[in-house]
Amino acid sequence: MAGTEQLEKLRADALAALRDVADNDALETWRVKYLGMKGAVKSAMKLLKDLPREVRPAFGKLANEVQQALSSAFGSRKQEFAAGRPAETTPVDMSLPGRTVRMGHRHIITQTIEEIIEIFARMGFTVARGPEVEDEWHIFDALNMPAEHTARDPLETFYITPSVVLRSETSSVQIRVMENQSPPVRVVSPGRVYRPDTVDATHSFMFHQVEGLYVDEGVSMADLKTCVDQFCKAYFAPDVRTRFRPHFFPFTEPSAEVDISCHACEGQDERCPLCKGSGWIELGGCGMVDPNVLEAVGYDAEKYTGWAFGLGIERMLMRKHGIPDIRLLFENDVRFLRQF
Ligand code: DAH
Repeated sequence: MAGTEQLEKLRADALAALRDVADNDALETWRVKYLGMKGAVKSAMKLLKDLPREVRPAFGKLANEVQQALSSAFGSRKQEFAAGRPAETTPVDMSLPGRTVRMGHRHIITQTIEEIIEIFARMGFTVARGPEVEDEWHIFDALNMPAEHTARDPLETFYITPSVVLRSETSSVQIRVMENQSPPVRVVSPGRVYRPDTVDATHSFMFHQVEGLYVDEGVSMADLKTCVDQFCKAYFAPDVRTRFRPHFFPFTEPSAEVDISCHACEGQDERCPLCKGSGWIELGGCGMVDPNVLEAVGYDAEKYTGWAFGLGIERMLMRKHGIPDIRLLFENDVRFLRQF
């Protein structure tokens, strides 16, 4: 049957030619030649009317099949080019290694916050969060800061409106927690704080603190010292020593600053970038919560006592990981960040 043989040959030739097509232009040329309006398939179909009546159905059926086969082969080839896959004729080296996808990871500050939370959780503390945009009541008034206190100066605090600020310390969260909960209270609150400081190796206009607050009946300064000391031993190293230096904060009485021993020079090197030869590195402040603060949130200051602390998170992690400059933490240079 001459007609059908011709169709089979057309199919075989067209598929062979399609395998050799190497780019989109050649693919289009191939389409016009075989599947176009004046292409080989259409011309073959025209033979139908000249064939004997009995063979026409078989020929017509085969012609349709060939057209469908070529159209679908064309479609697949076109997709291959669109997906940028190499033509089948290009050898593929299956032994080449795959492309590795680099996993991201948490920033060292986030990792440190999680580590701190974990240590305090073991001592029975839960986590509280507060807003970074604060009102005067929570950041100043309730914390027993008189109207003339220097912290209220616009040189010390970023003002958004005369009574709304970017919080300059996490201590405001103490007030928010106590306003919403009666004693006993045992919370830590990590977060960002903002101060209009000139940026240098140890200062930034934005940094992180972790606040701690413990209020109950019979809470004493001894608890505070033990808790902070145990935290430092757990976070830094078991042989780290702590020191509490008398200081003043409006919201605590008595108040102290917390220092830890310098592991780098142990006080032996005047040029030590961490302690400048003093042997001690300051971490933050602490003290017994002032009765005025307890009263501001409606606690019975006769019945309850408490202590609080606020420690600098960058300070801690820079000391632990030997990072000499705070700016490294905020520049987002992945070559630096990938180390942690
Ligand atoms: N808020 C103080 C600061 O940023 C640190 C501080 C001192 C927090 C004493 C406290 C505290 O909770 O009791 O300098």
